[in-house]
Amino acid sequence: MTDTLTPVLSDDWDTDRAWTLRAYERAGGYQALKKALTAQPDELIELVKDSGLRGRGGAGFPTGMKWGFIPQGDDKPHYLVVNADESEPGTCKDIPLMLATPHTLVEGVIISSYAIRATHAFIYVRGEVLHVIRRLQRAVQEAYHAGHLGTNIHDSGYDLELVVHAGAGAYICGEETAMLDSLEGRRGQPRLRPPFPAVAGLYACPTVINNVESIASVPCIVANGAEWFASMGTEKSKGMTLYSLSGHVNGPGQYEAPLGITLRELLELSGGVRDGHELKFWTPGGSSTPILTAEHLDVPLDYEAVGEAGSMLGTKALQIFDDTTCVVRAVLRWTEFYKHESCGKCTPCREGTWWLVQTLARLERGDGTEADLDQLVDLCDNILGRSFCALGDGATSPITSSIQYFRDEYLAHLTHGGCPFDAEAATLFAAERVPA
Ligand SMILES: Cc1cc2nc3c(=O)[nH]c(=O)nc-3n(C[C@H](O)[C@H](O)[C@H](O)COP(=O)(O)O)c2cc1C
Ligand code: SF4
Repeated sequence: MTDTLTPVLSDDWDTDRAWTLRAYERAGGYQALKKALTAQPDELIELVKDSGLRGRGGAGFPTGMKWGFIPQGDDKPHYLVVNADESEPGTCKDIPLMLATPHTLVEGVIISSYAIRATHAFIYVRGEVLHVIRRLQRAVQEAYHAGHLGTNIHDSGYDLELVVHAGAGAYICGEETAMLDSLEGRRGQPRLRPPFPAVAGLYACPTVINNVESIASVPCIVANGAEWFASMGTEKSKGMTLYSLSGHVNGPGQYEAPLGITLRELLELSGGVRDGHELKFWTPGGSSTPILTAEHLDVPLDYEAVGEAGSMLGTKALQIFDDTTCVVRAVLRWTEFYKHESCGKCTPCREGTWWLVQTLARLERGDGTEADLDQLVDLCDNILGRSFCALGDGATSPITSSIQYFRDEYLAHLTHGGCPFDAEAATLFAAERVPA
C-alpha cells in the first residue's frame, strides 16, 4: 500500500501540445520502440509476463499470458485489436489518455504487434468521441510520416499497418468478440467461445484484444524493465494504474497510483467527499461492479482485495455517491442503461433486464410491495451466470449489492409511497418558499 501518486502514463498530460509527435518525442517517446525492435518477439512476450501487467479493461487477465496464447509459425495473419470502446458508466480513463497523449497508445500498439507477430492492428474507438478519433488519426498519420509505422519500420524489416476504426455507439461492442463482429462489418453481438480469439479471432485468425491502458503501459515496461514495473503495486496486482474519481468529490479526475492504494487515500488526495456530506456508496470499477460502502474505505484497490470485499476492481472507475443520493434511483438509472444496451441475443438478459427495470421502477415510485424486492433478487439469480456474456451478469451487480447494503432504503420507498429523498427535498423547497 502507498499514498503516493506515480504518474507514468499521465506524466506528460499537461505538457504544451502533449498530443503531438514532437512533444512526445521530446519526452523520450518512441525510444522504447527502437529498443523493442532489437529484441526477439518472444523476448518481449516474456518481458510483459515478468512485469506482471494485467489487463486494464476490467477482468485483469495477465497480458503477457494472453499474448503467449497466439500460435507461432502458423502461417496465418495475426491481428492486434485495441479496445477503445470505453462505454461503461463511470469509466473514463482511456478517452483522457488518448486525448492527451495518443502517441503512448500508438507506440504501445507497434511494440505489442511486433511481439505477437501481427502486421495489421486496429484501434476500435467509441464512435461518439469524435475529438478523440481525430486526435488518434492525426497521431497515426504523424507516426507513418516519421517511419514508426508502415513498411520496414526503422530498417528492422518489420511492417505494420494501423487502422483507427470508429464504432457506432453500442456498449456491447466493448465485449471483445462483439467487437470483432463489428469490425468485420456485422452487427456487434458476442460470439460463442471456444474458439477463443487467440485461435480464431478477427477474420478467423489469431487475434489479441487488449484495453487501451494495457497497451499504453507496454512502452514504459520496455523502457524501464519488468522489475521496475513489478516494484509497484501489490503481490499479485503489479504496476501503476489510472484510478478515475467522479461524482460527489471535491477533486474529480484521473489519479495514477500503484495498485493497492485505498479509496481513503485517494479521497485525501482529491480533497474528499464534497463539503458537508458523507460517503454513502461507491463503485470500485464502473457500474457493473457491486457497490461498496464507507466500511470499505480501507480495502486495497487491487484485484484480490476488492474481490475479497465482494466486488471487482473492474476499470477502477470510482464513482462516489454521498448521503444525498437515493440508491434505488441510482440503481434504476444504471439498470435502464443495461436494458437499453442488451444486444438481445440471449433470453435471460434480453427479457430479464426489461423485468428488472419494471420492478425497480415500481419500487422506486413506491407502488410496489416487499414481494417485489424478493422478485428482484430472484430475477438477478436467473440472469447471473445464465447469460451469454458478461453484460447480463454486470446488470445484476448494482441491484444485488444495493439490496445487501440498503434493503431498508428500498423498504422506505414502500412506507413513504415514493422516494423519501424526494419528500425531504420537497420539505426543504417548501421551507425555502415560505416568505420571511
Ligand atoms: C458488455 C461489455 C463491455 C465491455 N467494454 C469494454 C471496453 O469498453 N473496453 C475494454 O477494454 N474492455 C471492455 N470489456 C472487456 C473486454 O471484453 C475484454 O475483456 C478487454 O478488452 C480485454 O482487454 P484487457 O485484457 O487488456 O483488459 C467489456 C466487456 C463486456 C462484457
Ligand atoms: S448477456 Fe445480454 S448483451 Fe450479452 S449476449 Fe446476452 S443479450 Fe446480448
